[in-house]
Amino acid sequence: MLSILENSRSIRWLGKQLFNREDPSAFFDPLLSQLDPMMVRQYIPARVIEIFDETADTKTFVLKPATRWPGFGAGQHVNICIEIDGTRHNRTFSLSCSPEQWRQQGTVSLTIKRLPGGRVTNWMHDNLKPGAVLGLGDAFGEFQLPVNPEPLLYIAGGSGITPILSQLESLAGADWRAPVTLLYFVRTQADVIAAEKLYAIQQRWPAFSLNVVTTEDGDTPQYLSDQHLEQVPGVNARRCYLCGPKGLMDLASELLHRRGVTEDRIHSTFFSAPAAALVSDELGGEVRFSRSELTVSSEGDAALLDIAEAARLSPQSGCRMGICHQCSCRKTSGTVINRLTGKASGPGEESIQLCISIPQGPVTVDL
Ligand code: FES
Repeated sequence: MLSILENSRSIRWLGKQLFNREDPSAFFDPLLSQLDPMMVRQYIPARVIEIFDETADTKTFVLKPATRWPGFGAGQHVNICIEIDGTRHNRTFSLSCSPEQWRQQGTVSLTIKRLPGGRVTNWMHDNLKPGAVLGLGDAFGEFQLPVNPEPLLYIAGGSGITPILSQLESLAGADWRAPVTLLYFVRTQADVIAAEKLYAIQQRWPAFSLNVVTTEDGDTPQYLSDQHLEQVPGVNARRCYLCGPKGLMDLASELLHRRGVTEDRIHSTFFSAPAAALVSDELGGEVRFSRSELTVSSEGDAALLDIAEAARLSPQSGCRMGICHQCSCRKTSGTVINRLTGKASGPGEESIQLCISIPQGPVTVDL
């Protein structure tokens, strides 16, 4: 009798799952992932098909997403979801290939530098192999090309070249007629990422001028200066795209502003969270995660995302640098400092991004 009851309960449960119209993937995905990970529907699976070295610490990962992935614009970012030792991690990377590669070959490339202490980037460098499957989110980001041809200036530093590579390949493919200059700052020649690709673009696209500036090859370190800009014909009339370390981007913006290039003609994106100058002894405080009924204390400039994870909570996250908004969460009381701007929030209820919010005194978060 008991087993008949249990069987009928199981059948009812199975029936409910099968007709769960809100989220059928919650039922089917674990089964499908065992049969073929490319059939999973909760995220768009992408199979790693090739991995190659760009420099000693940077690799390109070529992925083949399932065909339902909607594609991207040159210069956009994407979140990836990857499982490491049974835990899922989300990270944001720039796509380093042109949208044409996706349209024509059905593949996309991520060019990723190993980061000191970077749990995910280092794991990918050391363990990810062709054949593995990871999850791919929709592409996002405002670092995009103008619609009509006009002269462009790119200023990149180190791995800040990745979204720019995507745009340059796209422009070269479309035979963009207006002049395009890239000033690419790297420590040494050996640190030029995608060197072969960049020189090939230069060869086949006459409107493109490539200038690699090595900052540590000579006796005196070289930094971006007005002299570099002077050498770019018609620099003041160019639309400018910047990607690299915060110091380089701040300096580039300042030099361009001084030349009268207006803010709306300067586009920038960054690859790690730039930190505003913060007075750390005014930071930290008691953090209450109200839904989890957990209270912890924090010190210094630790962001709420790190504090939550240290307390063994698993809030959603992606880029960890204030771009993707995946970590957005309700703060119900207390003040936080925005790591990017250095500005304080109001004391009341509002939406915040956990990865760039540093408590200043007691804070309660709906997590
Ligand atoms: S994790 Fe992307 S904005 Fe916070």
